Amino acid sequence: MEQQEWAQVVEAATRAPSIHNTQPWRFTATADQLDVFLDPARALPVLDPTGRQQVISCGIAVEFAVVALAAAGRLTEVELLPDGGNEDHLATVRLVGPIEATEEDRALASAIPERHTVRDPFQPRDVPTELLDRLQAEAGAFGTWFKPVTRSEEEVATVFLIDRAEEMEQGDPAYVAELQSWLRTDPTAVDGVPVEAVPSGDPNQRPSNWTIRDFVVGTRPQAPAAPGHDPDAPPPEVERPTVVLMGTDGDDRHSWLQAGRALGRVLVVATSHGVAASPLTQALDWPATRARLRTRLSLVGHPQMLLRMGYPQEGVPVAVSGRRPVDEVLMRASDR
Ligand SMILES: Cc1cc2nc3c(=O)[nH]c(=O)nc-3n(C[C@H](O)[C@H](O)[C@H](O)COP(=O)(O)O)c2cc1C
Repeated sequence: MEQQEWAQVVEAATRAPSIHNTQPWRFTATADQLDVFLDPARALPVLDPTGRQQVISCGIAVEFAVVALAAAGRLTEVELLPDGGNEDHLATVRLVGPIEATEEDRALASAIPERHTVRDPFQPRDVPTELLDRLQAEAGAFGTWFKPVTRSEEEVATVFLIDRAEEMEQGDPAYVAELQSWLRTDPTAVDGVPVEAVPSGDPNQRPSNWTIRDFVVGTRPQAPAAPGHDPDAPPPEVERPTVVLMGTDGDDRHSWLQAGRALGRVLVVATSHGVAASPLTQALDWPATRARLRTRLSLVGHPQMLLRMGYPQEGVPVAVSGRRPVDEVLMRASDR
């Protein structure tokens, strides 16, 4: 494949969500393969010292490349961690032949630019069980389990651990400094989380059990007192998103890449059905809350992702976060 065609594939791959929109990837392309590398220069040493969430992010990018290639009529084979001597060489995507792209392949590829993290409250409408079953099967193909959090005692434990982790994070100056360094007020920023993508209200005041990550800790102006509170006014509708946990048996780079690929697939299939998502990974950031989630929910294996899913409110604009241009991340193999 020509470099120009690879540029289009890499453009699709870089639409992948990544922790704090760090986009911790680099790519090289030759005629018949794309190689994906972790870029250690974009690490999050406080939030993600093992690189787990960044490797998951790169796994999503690998899967987005596979989806884009399938829609372009290219059958692929993916080898994870192809170079035992370089653990930052995360994957090789090889072209193994032409295929007839299906309607489904094209629908999934066109979901890639449509997908955005949606943190605003979702509509009060359940994600259908058939779609959740399909997503579970998609994740299962990558050795990743997909478990909706449905039982009330599981929900109580998960909500408690997210709140506990969020509280620990807000009390940690190093975490807050790192988070703020990835928050962007310039709408043309090519990386980081744009303030417009973060709901402006205090996440603690939101009528939801599920506390979204607070990206503007300590910088939000004090909310004015509610004018003339009407005691007869109905309480605000409490959001009831579908929340799913995804995880793997192992907890190493290979497992994180598998979880990332599974998540990439889950996100494009969900988007193609009108369902949006936002990760809620605070409880997984810290070894203590992550371990407690495992025991409290009797999970077999290791939780890798907590995802809030639902149908976005109609008419509410979705903020689009920036991406670095392809020529910053795609190098010729010989330039590496
Ligand atoms: C591994 C991982 C963890 C994430 N954790 C959170 C989170 O805890 N809270 C949140 O609001 N967004 C989270 N995100 C979403 C990113 O902030 C988002 O993908 C990024 O800002 C790019 O925006 P986009 O998804 O709209 O393209 C996470 C994404 C990934 C891949």
